[in-house]
Amino acid sequence: MSAPLRPACALLLGLLALLSPCCASRFRIPPHEQVARVARFIAHRCDWASMATISSHSPVVGQPFSNVFSVSDGPPGSSSGVPYMYLTHMEISVQDLQVNPQASLSMSLAQTDYCRQQVFDPQSPLCAHIILSGSVLQVNGSEADFAKKALFSRHPEMIDWPTDHNWFFSKFNITQVWVLDYFGGVKTVAPDEYFQATPYRKHH
Ligand SMILES: *[C@@H]1O[C@H](CO)[C@@H](O)[C@H](O)[C@H]1NC(C)=O
Ligand SMILES: *[C@@H]1O[C@H](CO)[C@@H](O)[C@H](O)[C@H]1NC(C)=O
Repeated sequence: MSAPLRPACALLLGLLALLSPCCASRFRIPPHEQVARVARFIAHRCDWASMATISSHSPVVGQPFSNVFSVSDGPPGSSSGVPYMYLTHMEISVQDLQVNPQASLSMSLAQTDYCRQQVFDPQSPLCAHIILSGSVLQVNGSEADFAKKALFSRHPEMIDWPTDHNWFFSKFNITQVWVLDYFGGVKTVAPDEYFQATPYRKHH
């Protein structure tokens, strides 16, 4: 179709958005008091995370080391809550994890259009963000199959990453969820509460 959206077409798109609850609600953040749902929403919406490890590299041995990783908790609309990653032992932070698998992941709606559109500064709690505590574990078997589907659907470039790097699938095994989604300080969510929550509105 040519450049300006014709009114009839715009109307049709609007109707489609109303008729497909999965997609219409995908971009609507849950109410801030439903903290576990907000956390799941953020974990599903973000395609990457900052991961802090405890460095094993000179001159910062023992110090926090924060780095960027592509993540996916499932194909779009199919959230598991588990952040999966595609890693290689050649990577500096992964080498830290071999010494100490404990790590922290942070993800923010500043990584989406949401905070810009709402004019929320990334450091504002209204620009909802989460911090996950836990450790990074390699996954195998059917969980690795799911991780592959989750990651390759949202990061298609991964399919062509050099095979001699010996990539493997991992998950971030969550032990505590920290949520900043409103004023009044950080809120915590236990893993079972987090995994029971649904990131999107239920439709009847
Ligand atoms: C997956 O396999 C690797 C390599 O054999 C092993 O080190 C790891 O513990 C396994 N992970 C799980 C969750 O079973
Ligand atoms: C994974 O996380 C669970 C809590 O969700 C915890 O009980 C378990 O000890 C963790 N496993 C490892 C290997 O860290």
